[in-house]
Amino acid sequence: MQHNAGFTRDDVVTAALEIGVDRFTMGKVARRLGVSTADLGRTVSSRDDLLVACLERVSADATLPPTGLSWQDYLRRLSDSLWDVLDAHPGLDHTLINLAWAYVPFMSVAKRAHNALVSGGLRSEDAYLALNYTLSTVLTAHQQAVAMAETVESDRQPGRSERGIDVATRMWDERFGDSSAALGMRGPNELHSGDDTDRVPFRPKESWLDRGAMAPKLEVIIGGFSSLSDVLSGAGSNGASRGPSPASQSNDTRESSVNTLVLVFHPNISESRVNKALGAAAESLGGNITVRYMYDIYPDFNIDVATEQAALLGADRIVLQYPMYWLSCPPLLKKWLDDVLTFGWAYGSTGTALHGKELLVAVSVGGAGSAYGREGAHIYTIHEFLRPMQGTSRVIGTKYAVPFLSVGALEITDEAIARRAQDYAAVLQTPELPLLDIFG
Ligand SMILES: Cc1cc2nc3c(=O)[nH]c(=O)nc-3n(C[C@H](O)[C@H](O)[C@H](O)COP(=O)(O)O)c2cc1C
Repeated sequence: MQHNAGFTRDDVVTAALEIGVDRFTMGKVARRLGVSTADLGRTVSSRDDLLVACLERVSADATLPPTGLSWQDYLRRLSDSLWDVLDAHPGLDHTLINLAWAYVPFMSVAKRAHNALVSGGLRSEDAYLALNYTLSTVLTAHQQAVAMAETVESDRQPGRSERGIDVATRMWDERFGDSSAALGMRGPNELHSGDDTDRVPFRPKESWLDRGAMAPKLEVIIGGFSSLSDVLSGAGSNGASRGPSPASQSNDTRESSVNTLVLVFHPNISESRVNKALGAAAESLGGNITVRYMYDIYPDFNIDVATEQAALLGADRIVLQYPMYWLSCPPLLKKWLDDVLTFGWAYGSTGTALHGKELLVAVSVGGAGSAYGREGAHIYTIHEFLRPMQGTSRVIGTKYAVPFLSVGALEITDEAIARRAQDYAAVLQTPELPLLDIFG
């Protein structure tokens, strides 16, 4: 909105970001815009108000990695993206570390990253922790890199400046380097008196000016979470998103005690590659897992509502398995929803029949994972296209599990399908599925 003074709140935010989130003052912003500090009051109420607007702008502009990556690759790409954002906004690292509430405007972006990690195979709790570790590591490594690159006036040669890394290197060499050792210059502040070679890794390196100090730490984090949750390596490399890792969800692979109803909605299951394999994997589990091929049962679309409702009542977990068609579902599934989830039974004040049951959608998607998400051809994420299912789950009171996605289904290899089927079987045997939260 244009204001009398000829500048907008957006202009004020831009000016503050140009000055730097940790160093702008209302006076500096006003001067940059060529207006008085009092004029600024028409668009922002305080410095904190302006800072929130700055952080919201940075958050809205943030580009996340594409979906469909393994959680390991997602974390790597995410840390790179975050580093770029920090480079683009001097002082942001400092603000995020030192200001208690500064992370709050980034929550929706963090949640999207969390979802991508879960879709990439990490257990939900681990994904939160992995994000936390990664963000702290990137922030501190970046802040350190900035300090190393910053030039300061030399205390040795007045009038000349030197970079932080040069001062640090000189100081390190004076204390621990060979020449200083020969001159007997080791001071009382020396860390310890062991062999000098064991300190060499601590000698400043030029790579610390960029991501050199961050990358190895990130690999340690990834390694830690891999062993913690025993996640299988190599997820996503074959075009198949691994979805919630069976191993990460539970170590318990004994026969499931969860009564599970798998409803497969595929118009042509005999020609199917992915859904046929997933259906077969589910069938092979036997026990209390029932698989029904709905297009075979209802070739004329004449759904027997009483039979369907009885089947649902007997299940603790309902799985809707289908290929994505036109960013939605095959028509029989839509009709099944319309016919079976009746008022007073599935929703409405007395419609509590399905309350508390788990609902898992298992969807195969022809497009590559990278086609979904803000940078992909479809712009929206798969989770966003699945919102009607998630919303339906909310209305009927079921617990909406993290969807089991098989992406790149048109070009997926037979080996990848076989792995996907194994993962599906393991997910179906998991005692309790991770849930996708409401804005996930
Ligand atoms: C009518 C139709 C519509 C489709 N729409 C989409 C779509 O919107 N997005 C997508 O990624 N794939 C789409 N596909 C590809 C299917 O999702 C893909 O062929 C299927 O998941 C592969 O699973 P299957 O091997 O079990 O058949 C569509 C396919 C058909 C036949």
